[in-house]
Amino acid sequence: MTGLEVGVFVSLLISTVSASVTEKILITPLFEIGELWINASSMLFGRVTTLLTSVPNPYNVTTYVGVVIACLVIYYGYVLFFVPLNRVRKLGDIGYVNEGSWNKREIANMVRQRRKVGAIPPVYPNGWFPVMEAFTLKTGEVKNVSILGLALAVFRDEKGFAHALDAYCPHMGANMAAGGRVCGDSLECPFHAWKFRGEDGKCTSIPYAEKIPDIAKVKSWPILERNRWLYLWFHAEGVEPFWMPPEIEEITRGEWTYRGRSEHIINAHIEEIPENGADVVHLSQVHGPVIGAGIDLRYMWSELWAFARHSWDAKWEAAPPPDGHIGKITLKHSMSLFGKRFPPIDLTVHGQQIGPGIVYLRFTSWFGNGVYIQSLTPIEPMVQKLVHNIYVTKYMPMCVAKFLMLGEAIQVERDVMIWNNKQYCAKPVLVKSKEDSLIARHRRWYSQFYSENSPQLTFKQETLEW
Ligand code: FES
Ligand SMILES: [Fe+2]
Repeated sequence: MTGLEVGVFVSLLISTVSASVTEKILITPLFEIGELWINASSMLFGRVTTLLTSVPNPYNVTTYVGVVIACLVIYYGYVLFFVPLNRVRKLGDIGYVNEGSWNKREIANMVRQRRKVGAIPPVYPNGWFPVMEAFTLKTGEVKNVSILGLALAVFRDEKGFAHALDAYCPHMGANMAAGGRVCGDSLECPFHAWKFRGEDGKCTSIPYAEKIPDIAKVKSWPILERNRWLYLWFHAEGVEPFWMPPEIEEITRGEWTYRGRSEHIINAHIEEIPENGADVVHLSQVHGPVIGAGIDLRYMWSELWAFARHSWDAKWEAAPPPDGHIGKITLKHSMSLFGKRFPPIDLTVHGQQIGPGIVYLRFTSWFGNGVYIQSLTPIEPMVQKLVHNIYVTKYMPMCVAKFLMLGEAIQVERDVMIWNNKQYCAKPVLVKSKEDSLIARHRRWYSQFYSENSPQLTFKQETLEW
């Protein structure tokens, strides 16, 4: 039985039972109903008391069934109310249309090979890019990171500062992220123990040589630790950072707490993802059906889910100088149930697209305020890693914040089906309208992140390896 069928079955059962109960209630005098209620409640209370106070019978199988059920209830209750959400979907898990008896990996490979990507812009724009959530890099730890066409050794020195160095050692090419050790503020190569300082990449020690040549150094990349993320500055012309991602003070001050994350690997050009923010028409099309209708665009219009609908009202504009690298999004979300507004799910969102890799979506809701941090990093020319984190006011119950995070993740997964299969239209057929003109404005705004030497797609990878 699918989830849908179970839902239909349960609804029919409830309506049948409630119809017969209603009929009985109508023909039963009121005082008898009261008496029935009292008898039923005292019987239930008596049974629960007996259960809790009696010594379990070790020879009775129901004792063990009861213990297993109680453990499951406690475990899932604990997860629901105390553990932040972590929803991870790798490339191929979602966003492709099933074909014949192919497995997920084969379908992803096939679609990728036959894809006509279109005349895409450069694949790695300029700006700050998310590298990893800061808590995943412990003091003294080094990680191998492949993003933006770079091979990096990202490490946290003994004082707690994070650094990113080119991973390949200039001596004989060992990968310092594969077995290298953190020593003070430097990273020691695992092959012949040369040490490279995190701050500037200079070699500070060669165990068997007295003089260290000037050319013994690796490139050190600017790293910024902010909003519990590590960001790396990438600029094709080697320009130093000239803008910074703003700090979310509610997170720094600890007023908003972490309640979960989602992670999606997407097969698309990086610009397609933020372009969604200015594409106001797709909101009612792709994100209109209620989240229960699922993520498969073919089935989400089922009549079964027509009783509820999301509505969106959106605006996008570029911020004026000196914040020209920021795009401002205003979103109002509401929900209708059986044609009536259902305000508890209302959200007002004020978003900022900060360069090509970072989006903050601050929201206000019935249950409190918070922010989704959207972090986008190219791990290959046409493969993006998209992570969302949610931070909310402390008094918002964990299960509500997790529901908000899950709702966002499901909506993103519908976009993934579009992104994974689409072509980049360098010259889209836009009609004369407020809606389509926003897309053109977004493209003009985004073009500031490309420069003369921005890397272009030079080859197409034929297979998907992971
Ligand atoms: S290869 Fe790194 S020290 Fe020799
Ligand atoms: Fe979308």
